[in-house]
Amino acid sequence: MNIPNHLQIKSFSEYKQWYKKSIEEPESFWDSIANKFYWRKKWHTTLAYNFDTPEIKWFLGGKLNITENCLDRHLDTIGNKTAIIWEPNSPDEETRHITYRQLYVKVSHFANVLKNNGIKKGDRVCLYMPMIPELAIAMLACARIGAVHSIVFAGFSSAAIASRIIDSECKMLITANEVYRGNKRINLKAICDEALEKTPSIESVIVYRRTVEPTQMEPSRDKFWFDELQKVDANCEAEEMDAEDLLFILYTSGSTGTPKGMVHTTGGYMVGSTFTFQNVFQLSKKDIYWCTADIGWITGHSYIIYGPLCAGATTVMFEGIPSFPDYGRLWEICNKLNVTHFYTAPTAIRALAKQPLDLVKKHDLSSLKVLGSVGEPINEEAWHWYNDYIGNGNCPIVDTWWQTETGAIMISPLAGITPTRPTFATLPLPGVQLALMDENGNEIEIKPDKAEGRLAVKFPWPSMARSVYNNHERYKSVYFSQFKGMYFTGDGAYRDAMGNYRITGRVDDVVIVSGHNLGTAPIENAINEHEAVAESAIVGFPHDIKGTALCAFISLHEGKLGNQNLIKEIKQQVSNTIGPIAKPDTVIFVNGLPKTRSGKIMRRILRKIAHNKTDALGDTSTLLNPDIIQEIIAQFKGN
Ligand code: WTA
Repeated sequence: MNIPNHLQIKSFSEYKQWYKKSIEEPESFWDSIANKFYWRKKWHTTLAYNFDTPEIKWFLGGKLNITENCLDRHLDTIGNKTAIIWEPNSPDEETRHITYRQLYVKVSHFANVLKNNGIKKGDRVCLYMPMIPELAIAMLACARIGAVHSIVFAGFSSAAIASRIIDSECKMLITANEVYRGNKRINLKAICDEALEKTPSIESVIVYRRTVEPTQMEPSRDKFWFDELQKVDANCEAEEMDAEDLLFILYTSGSTGTPKGMVHTTGGYMVGSTFTFQNVFQLSKKDIYWCTADIGWITGHSYIIYGPLCAGATTVMFEGIPSFPDYGRLWEICNKLNVTHFYTAPTAIRALAKQPLDLVKKHDLSSLKVLGSVGEPINEEAWHWYNDYIGNGNCPIVDTWWQTETGAIMISPLAGITPTRPTFATLPLPGVQLALMDENGNEIEIKPDKAEGRLAVKFPWPSMARSVYNNHERYKSVYFSQFKGMYFTGDGAYRDAMGNYRITGRVDDVVIVSGHNLGTAPIENAINEHEAVAESAIVGFPHDIKGTALCAFISLHEGKLGNQNLIKEIKQQVSNTIGPIAKPDTVIFVNGLPKTRSGKIMRRILRKIAHNKTDALGDTSTLLNPDIIQEIIAQFKGN
C-alpha cells in the first residue's frame, strides 16, 4: 500500500492499513512520513538499532534543522497565520498574537544573542522561564544554532536547577526576573542566583524582564534580554544538524533519587512529534489548539511547541493557573479564543469538576471539537464529567498515553477516526509495536481474549529517547534490561479482546509479599473505595516472615477520623476486593501524601520512610509539598 500524500489518517480502515504497513515494513512506512518534512540532505539509512547495547538511530546521514520545519518552510504559505496565542496570567493584561513570520524573526534575532554570548552548536543551555512567548523563542533559538536546550520547570527549587545544570554542564542560563502565578509574584532570578552559587559551568545569564521590579544583576555575568537584542541583527541562518544530533535534554524523575536527563535527537523526534500531533488531534487549518501543560514538561515540548509548529497550527500558551481569578478561567479562555482542541491532565479535570458547575456553564464552549487527556490514568468519573460538561457529549476524548522517554504519543484514539472508550487509551499509533509481558517475562500472545501485564515496546520508533545524558548504563538498565530485546515502560496495562489498552499504573512499585506478586495500584484502588478515604499509597517494607509486608499511607476526607475501627474496615475492604494476602500490615493516617508537581504520588519517599531510612530520602526538590515529609515521618514514628 502506498501512503497517500498527506500525513493524516482519515478513517478507521485507513488507520488499520497504516498500522499494518508500519509493522510489516516499518522503514518504508517512516520513510514516507519523513519525506513530508524539509531536509537539507536526505538520509541514506532509515533505521539502525540494537536494543541490547542499546543503540537507536533513525534517518542516518539526514541533515536538517527543526526550526526550518517549524518556521522557514511556512513563510510562503502561512507566514501571516498566528503561530502562538499567548494568554497572560491576568485577564486584564493583553493577549498576544504572534504570526509565523514574526516568530521566525524573533527566533533568528535571539539566536544571534546566543551566538554573540559564545554559544555554539552542541553547547547546553538551561532555560528556567515562565510560560511566556520568550520561552518558546529561546528554545527555538537554541535549536536554530544547534545548542541543546535543557528546560527546567519554573516551579522547581534552586537545588533542582543546580543539579540539572551541573549534570549537563550548561554554559548559559536563560530566565526571567519574575513570574506571575495567580495573585502571587515569584522572584525567579533570586532562585537562579542561589543555584548559580553551585554551577561553575555557567558563563552567562540572560534575564527577560517580565515585571518592572528592580532585579539583582551580577554585571560580569548577567545580561538583560532586551539589551542583548540591541547588539545583533535578526538574520540567522539555521545550523545544519545531523538527524542524530542532540536537540534537547529533559530531566525526569527515576526510581532512584537523581533525575535522569533524557536525551532526544533531531530528526526522529521531529517526525514522531509532528506525525502524532496531526493524527491524534486531527486539526484543520483554522483550528485553535490549546495544551495546558507547562513547556517545562515533555507534553509542552512536543505538543505546545515542536509538533504544532511543524504542523503549521495555531498553539495557545497560557501563563496562569486554572484557579485565577476564579476556577472558571480555563473555560473563559476557551470561550474568548474560540479554542477548538483542548488538552489537559486528569488532575486538573478532577479539581475543576469539584467546583460549582456554574463556572463552566457561564462560558460558551461550543467552539470545542476535541478534548485530550494526558499524564495519568483518567478515572471513569472524571472522563464522564469532561465528556458531558466540557465536551457537551460532542467531542471525542483522546486519552493519550506516552512518556518523557517516548517523546511522542504512543497509545491514543485518533480524534473522530478511531473509537474511544472511557478509561482506555485504546489503540497503539502506527509504528508502535506493544507487548504485554507476564510475571515470568514472557509475552502474552495477542488473541481475542483480555489480558493484563507489563507494558513493553518491541520495536524502535523515531521519537524515542536515545540515552540518559552522561549515563548510558542507566538508560540500559532502566529500560532495556527487564525484557530482552524490548523497551520496558514501567507501566502495567490491561488489554481487552478488541486490542484496546488501558494503563493500570506504574508497576515499578510491585511488592512481593510471602512470595505473592502484588501490584500496589490495585490495593490502593481498593482502599480508595472506602468512603472515608481521600487518597492512599502502598509501599513494601521488610518483614521477618513474609519477606515484605505492606504499609498503607492514607489521607482521609475532611472530618473523618482515623481510628482502630476504620483500620479494620479498610483491611476488610482490601481483603474483600483482592484477598487477605493484600491486607496492609501497617496503616498510617496522614494529612497528605508527597506529590510531584504533576500530581503523582512519590512512593519512593514513602518507601524510605517505611524502611526507616529517613536520612536518605534522595532528591525531594521535585515535590509540590515538601513540608509534608516531616509530618509523615512523625506520624510513622508515633505509630
Ligand atoms: C503516566 C507524560 C495513564 C504513565 C506524557 C507514564 C499515563 C507516565 C497517561 C509518564 C495516560 C501518562 N494514561 N497513564 N494517558 N499518560 N501516563 O514522563 O505512568 O511525565 O509512564 O510523561 O505517566 O509521565 P511523563
